[in-house]
Amino acid sequence: MPKRPSAWRSTGLSAHIVGWGMAVPSGVMTNDDLAALVETSDEWIRDRTGIRERRIANESESTATLAHKAALAALEVANMLASELDLIIVATSTPEHVFPSTASLVQDWLGATRAGAFDLSAACSGFVYALDVATQAIRSGSAQNVLVIGAETMSRVLDWQDRGTCILFGDGAGAVVLSAGEDEGGVLSSVLRSDGAGCDVLLIPTHNVRDAQGHRINRMYMAGSEVFKFATRVVDESIRQAVEEAGLTLDDVSLIVPHQANQRIIASVAKKLRLDESRFMSNVDKYGNTSAASIPIALCEAIEQGRVKEGDHLVMVGFGGGLAWAALVLRWGIPARLKQAPTLVKQRRVLEYTLARWRARLVRWQRGLRQLWRRFSPGRLWRQWRARQRSDKNR
Ligand code: COA
Repeated sequence: MPKRPSAWRSTGLSAHIVGWGMAVPSGVMTNDDLAALVETSDEWIRDRTGIRERRIANESESTATLAHKAALAALEVANMLASELDLIIVATSTPEHVFPSTASLVQDWLGATRAGAFDLSAACSGFVYALDVATQAIRSGSAQNVLVIGAETMSRVLDWQDRGTCILFGDGAGAVVLSAGEDEGGVLSSVLRSDGAGCDVLLIPTHNVRDAQGHRINRMYMAGSEVFKFATRVVDESIRQAVEEAGLTLDDVSLIVPHQANQRIIASVAKKLRLDESRFMSNVDKYGNTSAASIPIALCEAIEQGRVKEGDHLVMVGFGGGLAWAALVLRWGIPARLKQAPTLVKQRRVLEYTLARWRARLVRWQRGLRQLWRRFSPGRLWRQWRARQRSDKNR
């Protein structure tokens, strides 16, 4: 396997996770709730997937609002100002719009005035892909602080009559702040892969897609058993490759944070790697499959449970639509540069958020006034009056 080009490490900087946060809707949908919608049962869902319940967004919640909430929490842990961010990446399959990007909305709401922003589409592998892109931006020296978010409202694209898919997914968001450090560690290696020949086994169409009868389709489609086979074929191998690229062995890895799709997939990967299932973080029972959000949500809960400590080696691994998959290894630790707490950051953060809200309002008012001025400016009214006079004369 060819190694990464050496230019990757030319600045001597590494990318460390220095902040993290998650946001899930408060609305809980249990398996029994689902059994009232489609022909299924709590027992079937638990046996085949390990899922007990999932969170479903209400009318006022969206991918962007969940992403924003997770971002606020991550910036608070990082003790960082939004204006210190250089880049915001939102990994999502359920963006607010095709464009503008959900990342641009989050950038505006945070008041991250110096940051570039874009969405990344790599389905359930999106968060790991985004971490890799962010790491490269940091290592090349083009960014110092990057906010990476995985956010989804899968409930909006599900076919609620298809029991093969609607039982699996949920809504939520997770975010991390990656920051440059001269200390060794942070992201050590990553493996990104794709096999587009499998593009038709798991997909969310846009408005352009029609079925064989010519009807537009806009709901998720999944060939469940094909996806299951794919996942159990590629995940263990990509973990092995990423661990080897990092110069480590599986024994060095204290926790694997896999995409939370199905407990049976996690169990199968653990068996193939000859690792105890307890070395894998799992919260699929509480949230179901939240696609690009599942890994950062699981990471946040692993940290909360005290399962991640300074110096630990972690693997994150995603897989899903594309077909695409990705594994990444990192050594946990906050760079020395960020350990001394800067003063008044909390107050400045709150001030920035308030200013961001007012700035967005002012920009809109200004635009509204410009439009009014264009419609009712004296020059325009005069031209309209003259045109009316001329047409009256000609009549
Ligand atoms: N409740 C009850 N029965 C169901 C059901 C449900 N929610 N969904 C499917 N079934 C039925 C099927 O209709 C089928 O019935 P039949 O034998 O009479 O035709 C039977 O259960 C078996 O279906 P099958 O699709 O073979 O089940 P499975 O064991 O493969 O489990 C999944 C289905 C979806 C749980 C499983 O394929 C899976 O988890 N795949 C991976 C999905 C995934 O993780 N996707 C996201 C990746 S990012």
